[in-house]
This record gives sequence, C-alpha cells and structure tokens, in this order.
Amino acid sequence: MKIAFVGKGGSGKTTLSALFIRHLAAAGSPVIAVDADINQHLGPALGLTDDQASALPSLGAHLPQIKEHLRGTNPLIRSAEEMIKTTPPGRGSRLLRIVEENPVYAACARPIALDEGSVRLLATGAFTEEDLGVACYHSKVGAVELLLNHLVDGPEEYFVTDMTAGSDSFASGLFTRFDLTFLIAEPTRKGVSVYRQYKEYAQDFGVRLRVVGNKVQGPDDLAFLRREVGDDLLTTFGHSDWVRRLERGDEPALRTLEPTNRTVLEQLKAEADAAHRARDPRRYTEQAVHFHLRNAESWGNAKVGIDLATQVDADFVLGAQQAEAAGV
Ligand SMILES: Nc1ncnc2c1ncn2[C@@H]1O[C@H](COP(=O)(O)OP(=O)(O)O)[C@@H](O)[C@H]1O
Ligand SMILES: [Mg+2]
Repeated sequence: MKIAFVGKGGSGKTTLSALFIRHLAAAGSPVIAVDADINQHLGPALGLTDDQASALPSLGAHLPQIKEHLRGTNPLIRSAEEMIKTTPPGRGSRLLRIVEENPVYAACARPIALDEGSVRLLATGAFTEEDLGVACYHSKVGAVELLLNHLVDGPEEYFVTDMTAGSDSFASGLFTRFDLTFLIAEPTRKGVSVYRQYKEYAQDFGVRLRVVGNKVQGPDDLAFLRREVGDDLLTTFGHSDWVRRLERGDEPALRTLEPTNRTVLEQLKAEADAAHRARDPRRYTEQAVHFHLRNAESWGNAKVGIDLATQVDADFVLGAQQAEAAGV
C-alpha cells in the first residue's frame, strides 16, 4: 500500500515514518521507503551515516531513465521527453512492483539493513524551501508521483513516503496518490493549521487523512487535539525518551521502544491495511487522469508542444487485474 507522512517541518514526520518503516520491516513485510521531504533525513533516521546518506542516488537526477523505463511500449507515449510527471500509465506501460528487481530500483534504490529486517530506500534528492514551485523541485517530487502512478502493490507490501506538506503536492495531484496519509501534528496551533489546510484540499478528492498527534504530553495536549481535529485524530505518540536517545546518537533497538509508542505503530499499520482493502483502482486511475489533464492544460501542453490529453488510455485501470484476482 501507498502511505504518506505529511505535516509541518519539525512535527516528527521523519521520526515517525522511520519508526513505522522499522516496525513493518521487523514484521517481515517488504517495504520501500521514500524520502521526499525538503530536508532529506530519512536515510540517517534509518541508520545511514551522513556520508552514506549524501551518496544516495537521487530520483530527480534519474528522471529521464525513470520515464524511459515506465513508458515501455505504450504507443500513446512517443518518447520519454513527452512524458510529464502526471502522464498516466496505459497499455504497454511498465508497471512497478514492490518486490522485484527493475532498472529504476537498480539505479535509485539502496538496501538498508535494520536491526530487525531490511528495506529499500529511494530519495528525491535535496531541495530547499525556495525550490518549491520551480522546475527542479517538480522533477524531484514528480519522480515520486510517476512511481506511484505506475506501482501495483499488494496487501502487506508498503511504499512509505516521508513528505513535505507543501502546496506543490496539491497542484500536481501527488497528495491523492496514497491509500492513506498520516498527518503528523504537534498539539499546537501551527500543527493544527497545517492539518486544516491539508484537509481542505484533501476532502474534495476523498483523500483518506488521519492525524497522528506527536510529542503529546498529558491530558491537556490530548484534549486540545481532540477538540481541534475531532474524529480525524487516529492516535497520539508521546514524547519519547527512546527518540531522544536516538537524537543523542545512540542506536537503540526497536524492541526497546516504549510499549505505548510501539502500540501506536501497530495502530498505524492496522489503519494502513484497512485503507488498502478499501482502495478503488478505478477511482485511483481516474484521478491520475484528472490531474494529468489539469497539468497538461496549465503548463504541460505548452512545455512539451503536443496535446498531452492524447496520452490518456481511457480503458486502462491500474491494478485492475490484481483487484479481480483478489475478488474485489
Ligand atoms: N515523540 C517524540 N519524542 C521526542 N522527540 C521527538 C519526537 N518526535 C520527534 N522528535 C524530535 O523532534 C525533532 C523533529 O522531528 P523530525 O522527525 O525530524 O520532524 P520532521 O521530519 O517533521 O521535520 C527531532 O529532533 C526529533 O528527534
Ligand atoms: Mg523530516
């Protein structure tokens, strides 16, 4: 399933997504971890040294190869150059699976051995606040959107993205590409205002959004979040001495995480699994097309010099055969 962690900078996206990833890997589930945050910290949070993290290949730099691979023999996409970040898959496109070897993973994914289990990590490459809205940022996060739109993932397989809550993900449609979005919110007015903004965009597209409170200390914090977020509040993660140890450079084992916080990770997994069962491949594909047509009109057609609406394969539904096989 496709899961995003979003929220304000400093809310704990990287901390909680890394813990969630470790929790899944410890259970033996295949996981692809994706660092798509402004500050590329997921690698170190999963135990890479700074040198190892800065040597990670970036998705942004491999965008032409990624497009070339995904295009496959799709007759509606005549070249990788004509492919934009929202170009939807169709017959002939190469789809990705979580568990497989393919040229995209070979070029961009790096295996990480954890204290329990292992994962593969993809990274967009660093960008800054000023990059938001400019081309290089689009190519970085656009690569993630392309991968998601071509990914056929089964139950108990996880694609977990540590992402910024920036407004660019709203323009492109990226925010609709997940089965479930965890919005990490500290019990503060700012934390909650990011939630409100996200919710506003999300509800028009039926995005499944659940709030995870973080650094929640005591009943007043909890009451504040309940009042501000209501039923969207899934659970809360407490202030964690285990996380503080991690920050001090220790390497605490996952099994020594506070039991209450470990239970929170289990709640996230249950919520994600439920979201996967509830997914609708047809709607997912229709939304991909919707955002493609929107991007085509607003900038894509002018940039590429063709009518990008011709790339839409109207009869194609991502994951349709898989859903049929599972009797959905
Ligand atoms: N539950 C927690 N308990 C203690 N410290 C935390 C907790 N969650 C996050 N932190 C700390 O808060 C800071 C910001 O967290 P981080 O995960 O980097 O946020 P983001 O990725 O949203 O910018 C880090 O120093 C992190 O160690
Ligand atoms: Mg972060």
